[in-house]
Amino acid sequence: MNTKLTNGGIWNDINGEPIHAHGGHILFHDDFYYWYGEDRRGDMYVSCYRSKDLFNWEFRNHILTTSTPVAPIRVRTNLGLVNEKGGKVNLERPKVLFNPATKKFVLWVHYENGNDYNDAACAIATSDSPDGHFVYHGSFNPFGYMSRDCTLFQDDDGTAYFISAARDNADLHVYRLQEDYLNVECLVGKLWQGEYREAPAVFKRNGKYYMLTSFCTGWEPNQGKYAMAHSMEGPWSMLSDFGDETTYHTQPAFVLKRSEQEFLYFSDRWNGADYFQSSYVVLPIEFHGDVPTLNDYSSLLFERETRSMMFER
Ligand code: DGJ
Repeated sequence: MNTKLTNGGIWNDINGEPIHAHGGHILFHDDFYYWYGEDRRGDMYVSCYRSKDLFNWEFRNHILTTSTPVAPIRVRTNLGLVNEKGGKVNLERPKVLFNPATKKFVLWVHYENGNDYNDAACAIATSDSPDGHFVYHGSFNPFGYMSRDCTLFQDDDGTAYFISAARDNADLHVYRLQEDYLNVECLVGKLWQGEYREAPAVFKRNGKYYMLTSFCTGWEPNQGKYAMAHSMEGPWSMLSDFGDETTYHTQPAFVLKRSEQEFLYFSDRWNGADYFQSSYVVLPIEFHGDVPTLNDYSSLLFERETRSMMFER
């Protein structure tokens, strides 16, 4: 049983295999945490692991691969999961929500047909179970806009938002989704125009919305920033620093809210020279009043009695 995870180290699943779930997201469903993330090995795109304690992860499925079935629901569906040359496309930052109305698990992901990042599109897939084989529904540019680094956020009333970097990353767009989560309904915010924010991660605490982002420096880490709003539809505050000048060598993947008291910053420590050496860093978000702060800890410890997560410097 895993009772310690080292930030930036190798994290193995319960079979002793390294976890491949970068740029990911965790969905809590029916007493399990489901961790989805990029898996770039072989013919894989997105893998799914699950855990009850966030320390012991069971590999569940390669939910999106080059042979995932395609069921187009978009006008622009010429871009499939294999490119014109028969090679892999590029899928980054997959996020999954459960839609309570349709009972579908809906995945949104950044889509690139090639490695030049010129498609700047998003893509959608769905499944009837959290770790089943998803069905791919195609890629598109929301309202014609470029869409790169992205995240999803589900509000308490079930309203969902897709947030993604537009205009060659200069602006960050917030789209409210349709009720079925299968399309954007309305562009509700064009944030921090010209500030080049990427890697968005959103959470809600005491009725206030927070968005973490990084600056745009490829695989290299930089100063994280946060902003606050009283509504997802804005207005959003100015950007303030979060963590140190490299955000402790991380870039946000998502924030996991375990309770009103416990917010976990899940991040990637990318290795630009060798993507497969990239690792995970999880840190507690500590609050002073409404101000979120991030401190560096070397590891996560599982506290058996309370089944909670502790952090070690
Ligand atoms: C930063 C992004 O956040 C990553 O997801 C990835 O797209 C790299 N850029 C590529 O340089």
